Amino acid sequence: MSRILVIHGPNLNLLGIREPEYYGDESLEQINYRLIQKAGEFGYELIARQSNAEHELIEFVQNAINESIEYIVINPAAFTHTSVAVRDALAASRIPFIEVHLSNIYRREEFRRHSFFSDIAQGVISGLGAVGYELALQAAIQHLESTSSASWAMDLRKIRKLIEIFNASHLGEMEIRDGDESIRLTRAAAAISSEPTVPLPTVEAVPSSSIDDVEDKDSFPIQSPMVGTFYAATAPQDSPLVAVGDKVSVGQPICFIEAMKIFNEIESDESGTIVSVLKDDGDPVEFGEALFLLREWLTRLSSPIGVKLHFESCVPAEIWGLLRLLFIQKLTEKQNM
Ligand code: DQA
Repeated sequence: MSRILVIHGPNLNLLGIREPEYYGDESLEQINYRLIQKAGEFGYELIARQSNAEHELIEFVQNAINESIEYIVINPAAFTHTSVAVRDALAASRIPFIEVHLSNIYRREEFRRHSFFSDIAQGVISGLGAVGYELALQAAIQHLESTSSASWAMDLRKIRKLIEIFNASHLGEMEIRDGDESIRLTRAAAAISSEPTVPLPTVEAVPSSSIDDVEDKDSFPIQSPMVGTFYAATAPQDSPLVAVGDKVSVGQPICFIEAMKIFNEIESDESGTIVSVLKDDGDPVEFGEALFLLREWLTRLSSPIGVKLHFESCVPAEIWGLLRLLFIQKLTEKQNM
């Protein structure tokens, strides 16, 4: 998911109570909440940060590179008029940004009329109140959509969304057109078939009955994150949280480990199908010791996938690979429901 960072400078934590005639009566939390919702609707992750300290604003910008931030919306507040250092951080990051001000800085005191940011910003919005942030977000999304779609017009984000809609629906077929391109999903009893201009990579489907025949090299462990005593369930009469043949996802509770009289729920840090439970109730476990063996979902597909892909445009081979994985993941999840 693409990420957008919103940075609020000093005193903006006081929004709602601070000079409402300039800055409105909405709190920063309310503004951020709306921005996060709106970004989410478009398939973007929005991260909002505020600080009263110049060096922290600089760190937000510097860290943005490692955090894969693709766009920044910033209200540098009072640092707008003073901070060469924050400006330099933005210039160094090369991440495109929009400068936002709630008040119209050109209608206020003389010293607010100069900004150290405007000449390197993609755009400046000043004087429209909190709406200015939303307009900036809209422009940011538009910019990201247009740059990411340059290489492939109908991008993966849209396809992912389409798969979600299709999976949630009871439709047998769905087709979306985007200019010259179209994607059609058809629920069918047959295995994947396609009419692409490049051949669809084959999916290695293995009957589920062959799980037990799996060679060791195909399996990988879920390791214990602590020292303690293993339990498959909280009480002996309860069924275990997971058993051989179950599919588990990252974050799914899989067992308990009792340590110092506390029952800790252990979550899987892997996704896959359980092929072996290595511990019995009451067994001592060491840190890092294998508790379960898993196999990847992919190699365990037991039935034909039942979706027909049809592309009218030329799709690069690597996109086929990604699409194949996306479909298999979605459909495997669905088969499990
Ligand atoms: C501000 C304008 C700045 O001059 C002022 O110091 C702020 C907020 C605005 O949003 O209008 O703190 O950036």
